[in-house]
Amino acid sequence: MNDARIDVLQHLLRRYSVGPKHLVEPGPDDAQLREAARAALRAPDHGHLTPFRFAVVPPHRRTELARLFEAAARRHGHGAAESAAEGQRAWNGPVLVAVIVRIVPGRPEVPEHEQWLSAGGALTNFLNALHLMGFGAKMLSGRKAGDPDVVRAFCGPGETLAGWIAVGTPTAAPKARHDDDPAQVIGPW
Ligand SMILES: Cc1cc2nc3c(=O)[nH]c(=O)nc-3n(C[C@H](O)[C@H](O)[C@H](O)COP(=O)(O)O)c2cc1C
Repeated sequence: MNDARIDVLQHLLRRYSVGPKHLVEPGPDDAQLREAARAALRAPDHGHLTPFRFAVVPPHRRTELARLFEAAARRHGHGAAESAAEGQRAWNGPVLVAVIVRIVPGRPEVPEHEQWLSAGGALTNFLNALHLMGFGAKMLSGRKAGDPDVVRAFCGPGETLAGWIAVGTPTAAPKARHDDDPAQVIGPW
């Protein structure tokens, strides 16, 4: 491998999630988000079904999202203060991107689990691309991602709302919470 590729790999090995509290402006612009989407499209995808899509929450719709989050929290039995705090999560990160999985039915040669793997690969490539651009990000879901009104706001029929990626400029270098041990996940057959 040449030096540049080794550098990229070393940089990828330092991708850690950065929570919204540690994300400030600027977030990625439209061109950078499209580039991250191009990386997502490089996920392995049996049958080229593209079983995922990303929906960027425009700044002017954050208030609408906050109302949806707050109402979902109330429906889930939370009190006023907790529900208001849930609503505040609509302002998570300078940029907020919904991750939507769309499993294509009736394709026995590409079973659902393969399509979910593609969607996971797409999410990871998206996060890795943002990391390589110098942004911090974290994928978040919570109970609200399964709330019918929230799901309806983001998804069409047959789609699943996986959650939202909060993205921005990290206020500190992302940190590992533990050492990764490759022997945990790779060994002889
Ligand atoms: C689909 C999905 C949903 C997630 N939802 C949450 C969440 O709601 N809250 C949370 O703390 N972490 C959530 N995570 C995990 C974080 O995004 C992150 O991967 C985890 O904290 C591990 O950190 P790391 O990426 O630095 O290894 C979710 C991950 C995925 C893939």
